[in-house]
Amino acid sequence: MAASDPTPEGLTIVTHPLVQHRLTRLRDRTTAPAQFRAELRAISMLLGAAALADLPLRVGAIETPVAGMLAPVLDGLPLVIAPVLRAGLGMADGIVDLMPEASVAHLGMHRDPTTLDAVEYYFNAPKDLAGRLVVLVDPMLATGHSAVAALDRLKGSGARNLRFVCLLAARPGVLAVRAAHPDVPIWAAGLDADLNDHGYIVPGLGDAGDRIFGTGHA
Ligand code: URA
Repeated sequence: MAASDPTPEGLTIVTHPLVQHRLTRLRDRTTAPAQFRAELRAISMLLGAAALADLPLRVGAIETPVAGMLAPVLDGLPLVIAPVLRAGLGMADGIVDLMPEASVAHLGMHRDPTTLDAVEYYFNAPKDLAGRLVVLVDPMLATGHSAVAALDRLKGSGARNLRFVCLLAARPGVLAVRAAHPDVPIWAAGLDADLNDHGYIVPGLGDAGDRIFGTGHA
């Protein structure tokens, strides 16, 4: 399967030039953790803006220094941003920058190195997920195991309206998430064709958590 194959249904690739430029900086192995964190925060804001482009508005009355007017304001409850620990933390701040009143849920999951299955070790989310838009964030959509498990967990806790924002998707992961959760649309900066035997996206950008937190081995 080639990266040039059609984009899977339900996945939106954000093609804005600033997103594509920043993705290249993130892929580049010479980008050090401090720069990687800054780039990831900035690209996450751009991806979040794309994923939230249809948020509902209502009209409110305000006074400018010159005159009264009716002006649009966001309608409904603030959204919930749900990063998958630990790499999702690198994206969450960029989306919180967009909407500071958002709540942040935390999902701790690690990959079993043999089966690549997601194993949960922590979960903390607001009680009122049912009435709120929940945005799952995790930079690397690889096998899809942790995203499927995270979406299962959020739905099991009441979430009904979910979106998934990642940085880089691999085709098998997109297909797995869409098969398990066809109601959850996905946004990404790029789509790579495949995974290697260790479940890493190829060409990808390596281990996102290690690159964010500077824990990789040279
Ligand atoms: N997680 C990562 O950090 N990188 C990959 O390529 C796949 C999963």
